[in-house]
Amino acid sequence: MHKAPPPVLAAQHGALRVLTLNRPDKLNAFTPEMLASLDAELDDALADEATRVIAITGSGAKAFAAGNDIERLVEMDSPAAYRDMLAGQRAMLRLHESAKPTIAMVNGYALGGGFELALACDFIVASTNASFAFPEITLNTMPGWGGTQLAVAKMGLACAKRFVMSGKRFSAQACEAFGFIHALAAPEALFDEVQQLATTLAAFDPFAVEMAKRALNRAGELPLSAGLDFEAAHYAVNFASEGARAGLRHFMARKSAATVTS
Ligand code: COA
Repeated sequence: MHKAPPPVLAAQHGALRVLTLNRPDKLNAFTPEMLASLDAELDDALADEATRVIAITGSGAKAFAAGNDIERLVEMDSPAAYRDMLAGQRAMLRLHESAKPTIAMVNGYALGGGFELALACDFIVASTNASFAFPEITLNTMPGWGGTQLAVAKMGLACAKRFVMSGKRFSAQACEAFGFIHALAAPEALFDEVQQLATTLAAFDPFAVEMAKRALNRAGELPLSAGLDFEAAHYAVNFASEGARAGLRHFMARKSAATVTS
């Protein structure tokens, strides 16, 4: 019997786990099975100590992901669409809050839910042939997997309105100028660029990275005074960790060694 291909593929490259959305004939448009599989793969990557960084990409040369599956959407009534949006939002929030750093390796179209997924990651590394859009308005709908909120958080209100209210598709180069892309690379150099970033991130103490990310994620959600309290509390929690003690001691040891040899 013909076995359906897995909706998400996982591969390990040292400390980097790469998850690949695997529906290339439909430009990796999301299905519930794909979201469930992404969730399960995320669980696995988060539980695996050897995995320090998670990257997400799309299979095929054309798309990262072309968004929610329109063939499914068109059949939904309003309550079903509402539930579908909540499921998508849960998946995006989970990525946004994941304890390990995440990289969207965008290798083509990142549209609708695909763009939301990229924005839910900590970093976007894009191929020079990537493009980004929220086309929902052209379908008389709107982003529903966190797009309106994540876009504002990541690129500011004015820029988010350009995307959400025009439906226009912008090149990776234009998006780099908007400021929400970490790095651009030629298609054949995309994976190397992601690996370099992953190597940098994986070299740091994972708990320090996790604490810093949690504090960063609260910025914009909390009033400044509460955000600063949150930051100070996380600073203190991290400061008590063995990693922080070792990092500070290491700096002092290097300094005194340099003094002795000079
Ligand atoms: N949902 C379901 N199927 C989708 C899809 C989506 N979001 N995006 C692409 N596909 C399917 C196409 O229907 C087509 O399927 P088919 O081969 O069975 O006809 C296949 O993927 C290839 O797409 P196609 O449109 O032929 O490629 P293209 O290069 O001509 O155009 C896009 C690419 C991305 C511009 C176009 O597919 C598109 O506009 N997709 C919808 C994007 C969107 O609005 N996303 C937000 C959804 S809420």
